Amino acid sequence: MERDGKAATYERVLRDIDATLEGETDLLAAMATVVCLLHQAFDTYFWTGFYRRSGAAQLLVGPYQGSLGCLHIAFERGVCGACARSGQTIVVPDVHQFPGHIACDARSNSEIVVPVFNRAGQLIAVFDVDSEQYGAFDEVDRAGLEQIMARLARFEPAPVVVTPR
Ligand code: SME
Repeated sequence: MERDGKAATYERVLRDIDATLEGETDLLAAMATVVCLLHQAFDTYFWTGFYRRSGAAQLLVGPYQGSLGCLHIAFERGVCGACARSGQTIVVPDVHQFPGHIACDARSNSEIVVPVFNRAGQLIAVFDVDSEQYGAFDEVDRAGLEQIMARLARFEPAPVVVTPR
């Protein structure tokens, strides 16, 4: 996909996300919607999903589309862990050259991981996209995905409601 086309697709997906999530407050519903709309918008996306922060230095898989993902990733491991530790987006043109890369699916050849923060600026998740193509992600993807992930700051985890029997 040429450069302008990709930027325009991110803009369209952002509009679709805003329209779909208007009035919604639930974080899990928002994450599932973001994954679905992005995964369907780009042929280059092979695995698309969230790893949620599940402890001080642990990630746990969240909504995703693609082949089976690893469940737990410690902050010291993989591209996702490096993103969680640094709070910065990481673009990896060739995952086989990234020390400690976790190969959930051997068909993945490039990757981008974007941090997700809540309103208080705390890291709550990372968003991970893998591609079978080498060098699939660039500054256009970084800008597009960072803008989309910033939308998630306003959502809240649903309270657990237990009805007494
Ligand atoms: N490759 C990631 C692990 C997650 S999967 O790609 C779905 C990593 O190195 O952190």
